[in-house]
Amino acid sequence: DPARPTVRSSGSLLVDNIGELVTNAFGGGEGGPLGIHRDAALLVEDGLVAWVGPARGAPAADRRVDAGGAAVLPGFVDSHAHLVFAGDRAAEFAARMAGEPYTGGGIRTTVGATRAASDSELRRNVRRLRDEALRQGTTTIEIKSGYGLTVADEARSLRIAAEFSEDTTFLGAHVVPAEYADRPDDYVGMVCGPMLAAAAPYARWIDVFCERGAFDVDHARAILACGQAVGLGVRVHANQLGPGPGVQLGVELGAASVDHCTHLSDADIDALASHRIGCMCPDGRHTTTVATLLPGAEFSTRSPYPDARRLLDAGVTVALATDCNPGSSYTSSMPFCIALAVREMRMTPAEAVWAATAGGARALRRDDVGVLRRGARADLIVLDAPSHLHLAYRPGVPLIRQVLHNGVPQ
Ligand code: NIG
Ligand code: FE
Repeated sequence: DPARPTVRSSGSLLVDNIGELVTNAFGGGEGGPLGIHRDAALLVEDGLVAWVGPARGAPAADRRVDAGGAAVLPGFVDSHAHLVFAGDRAAEFAARMAGEPYTGGGIRTTVGATRAASDSELRRNVRRLRDEALRQGTTTIEIKSGYGLTVADEARSLRIAAEFSEDTTFLGAHVVPAEYADRPDDYVGMVCGPMLAAAAPYARWIDVFCERGAFDVDHARAILACGQAVGLGVRVHANQLGPGPGVQLGVELGAASVDHCTHLSDADIDALASHRIGCMCPDGRHTTTVATLLPGAEFSTRSPYPDARRLLDAGVTVALATDCNPGSSYTSSMPFCIALAVREMRMTPAEAVWAATAGGARALRRDDVGVLRRGARADLIVLDAPSHLHLAYRPGVPLIRQVLHNGVPQ
């Protein structure tokens, strides 16, 4: 499985003749957050970046990839995806486009289909979507459970997710399933007890859908705290369908990321911004709560987009992700999300590219991906274009010419 770090190419490989190299490394290249180098080359050894520098000073290597003067970027880091499910909800999408609102009520439809599916059907679907994402330049993808909602179905969802990703997230608190509809407290108790115990061995993160109609702030806090107590990191589905307490709850618990952030108050933005300053640790890294924006969800639910500019101007770290799921955002395309973020959310193309690479890495508290510097994973994409600008400038066009994952051409 190419998602596994143990898969390495043998010998060295030089990516040469790079017209524009986006490194996301501070202090590199032309400055600015993208750390752009012109006329560059990059050496891969043992699946890692071994050297970055000017093309004319490039070391010899066993093999060579000629970028043909095109742009090379870190592979996309999709920090929010729900890939373990069966079936689809195309009819629900069609009804929405004819005027029906999105309520999240369709989650139970997918829960039914997922429970009825075999392990191999679920695995096949995850592989299909992971491969689809990889072809579009995504080399790191977080995968959530949340369509099983029984102890056995959540555990197997995460067991399968862990075959494809190191960043697996337990979302047993996605909605209260029908059989617990009249006793939500019992469901929360079950999530914190036997379900967490069965899921935790396969999960790195815990997430809750904190929203009217899903889990209130007290239930969400209780569930996330139980996850933290067994060593899981926290992420929250927050402020998606309306204003609410999710963002501030995430900040309070030191969440790596609060996701959606569609309906934000000034107090929510202050909380995210002040947390950033208040929690600067000695190494200065990976201490903030990132705001992860999911414009595919606004697109597919015909909702107003969040204003990324407000967050960026306040100094909040912003990530972009797909939210790939059969209900609210059935896209695996990070380039599509970049284009939406630039056109609809007041991000510059450079900010959107950073958010889809380094921003996603921050949201997963990883420093080995989303960046191209010595020692990082050799996860990179060669565009069919001379500059990162084209990702937003040429929406809907397949611009990913080549993908290297752990140094291996895909
Ligand atoms: O992130 N909001 C909650 N969960 C998903 C949607 C799930 C679904 O509709 O199936 C989301 O949008
Ligand atoms: Fe989601």
